[in-house]
Formats: sequence, C-alpha cells, structure tokens
Amino acid sequence: MATQTLAFSAPSNIALIKYWGKGINQTPKNPSLSFSLKNAVTKTSLDFLKKEEGQAAFTFSFEGKSERKFHPKIESLFASAFELYPTLADYSFQLQSENTFPHSTGIASSASSMAALSLCLTSLAKNLHLPLVTGEFLSSASFLARLGSGSAARSTYGGFTIWGRTRHYPQASDEYAIDVNEMVHSSMKKLGDSILIVSSKEKTLGSSAGHRLMNDNPYANTRFLQADVLMGELLSSMKTGDFEKWGEIVEKEALGLHALMLLSESSPILLKPASLELITLIREFRKESSLPVYFTIDAGPNIHLLYPLEIKSKVQQFITDRCLKHLENAMVIHDEIGPGPYSL
Ligand code: PMV
Repeated sequence: MATQTLAFSAPSNIALIKYWGKGINQTPKNPSLSFSLKNAVTKTSLDFLKKEEGQAAFTFSFEGKSERKFHPKIESLFASAFELYPTLADYSFQLQSENTFPHSTGIASSASSMAALSLCLTSLAKNLHLPLVTGEFLSSASFLARLGSGSAARSTYGGFTIWGRTRHYPQASDEYAIDVNEMVHSSMKKLGDSILIVSSKEKTLGSSAGHRLMNDNPYANTRFLQADVLMGELLSSMKTGDFEKWGEIVEKEALGLHALMLLSESSPILLKPASLELITLIREFRKESSLPVYFTIDAGPNIHLLYPLEIKSKVQQFITDRCLKHLENAMVIHDEIGPGPYSL
C-alpha cells in the first residue's frame, strides 16, 4: 500500500464562559462556551501506511523540526484514538504540523493542534468505515479532541460552540462540543478579537496544574453552579443580540477566573500591572465612546479585546492611541470569529 495523506486546518478558540476544573476522562466540571478564531489555526497533515513489524506508531515534526516536548500529548491522543478505533493501530503515521500564530500569546495552540489531529484521525476512521464514536463526524472528532485537551473539543466547529452539560442547552454534552450558531442573533455573528500582548513569556501556570487547583478550592462548587448561571444569562443575551448584557457577563466571567485563582491554594497571580491598566483603559473608552468594546482573559496576562467587526477601525485607533505603550513590543494580534476547520 502506498503512503496516503489526510490534512486539516483547525482553529484555536477563545472561551467566554471558561472551562476550569476537570472530572474523570477529561470531562468538564462546568459548561463552557467559546468562539473559534479565523486567523489562528494549526495546519496538520498526516501521512499513513500499514505498519510493519517493529515500526514506530508515529513520527512528528512541528514547523519542520522534531519537537520532543509535544510528544507526550500527541502520544496520548494516538492512544485514545486507538482505544476508540483499534484498527488505526495497524497503521504507522507521519505527522507534520504548523501554527499560523506565535507561541505563548494567549492563543491556545493545544486547542487547535489537538483538534486538527483529531479531525485527521477521525477522518481516517470514517474512510475505513469504522463506526464513529458519536455516529457523526464533527462531534466524533470533538470527542477525540477533548481527550487530548479539553478546550480542543470546541475547535472542531466554526463560530460559537458549547461543551459541557448545562440546563440551558439540553443537547450539550460533557463528551463533545456542539455547534450553537443557530440560536445566535445575527448582530453577534461578526466579532473581532484583538489580542493585546502584555507578555509572551511561557505561562507560569500550565492548564493541567490550573484545573487541579480547583480540586481543593473551597469555592469550587459555588463556581461550577455560577458558571451555569452565567451560561444561561450569556445565551439569552446572544439570542436577543443584547451586546451590553453580553459584555458585562463576559468580563465578569473572565475576572471570576482570576479571582478563583487568587482564592486557590498557591494563589497564582497571572495578571500583570499592564493587564490591569488595559482593563481600566477599555472600561474608560467604553464609557466615553459608548462603543460596545469588552474584554476577556484566559489563564495568562494578555487581554482579548472583543467588539463587533463593524467598529474595527475605531477600536484599532483606540489601541494605537492608548494601549500600545502598555504592550510587549507594541504587539497586537488582530483576529476575529472564524468559520472553523476545513480539510486541506
Ligand atoms: O483545554 P485546557 O486544559 O488547556 O484548558 C483551557 C482553560 C482555559 O483556556 C482557561 C479556559 C477555556 O475554556 O478555554
């Protein structure tokens, strides 16, 4: 059999309701909601052929180089894929991957990379006519991606997705994410996300350690319930297109994530003085301009500025005039809501 190839591009995503705390089998302790980005993607190609005696299950190169530090995550994703689809273990794989965005900038590369590889492997399972784990392609890819990195479950779709059971969306599941674009008001479907880079240093708190902090956090159960309440409120604002309400919830949730960290055992402080400066500037600008400009923040210091794309030029002016001096090398990454993965 000649070598065959499957290749996918998959986006990173930014969570508006955050996944923070995990149960068994990488299931979430609370529901999360995110949108996929357009420019920040991982492109992965997977060459495969029938395995010969003693041959390695996979080789991996990232942007042309063999990167050992990514191996454990990839190995574990292959192991999950072989458990779901044992026939895949009869093959040997050559994996090549590249990102369109820089490392450590508040854009989750684990989400896009695990989603891209899961799409390739699920596609192979589908081509071999193996029964897919959910019976459907994208949710099966999401199921596998979740086993690699929780937030990757949300990166097998475009636009808005929900992962994790919530009483506000009965179809939502802990095992895979679902596409919720149908319920979103048309005015919210074109969003900008300009990422203000306060620091591009490696994160001081990895996400696995971060999720673990929730195990002993005395406020954990209240948080999990509150995330579901915020999910309900966010979904109503998205149905009606109420940007003001939406932004209020998104900011409350982002700051809530950081408050939770402060209340946990080692109380890591991930925000920097410049992050707080930027939050203040954004709020001031919103007040004086009456423009719907809001922020969210992941588990790091960089600020995601969120706004309807129709006001992008005004937001860019605001960034140039007031924010650049607070950023590392005046670095901003302009992105926006994107259409999701595609086969290359
Ligand atoms: O998927 P993980 O394990 O890297 O966790 C992601 C955690 C946050 O980015 C902080 C929130 C989220 O839902 O994406």
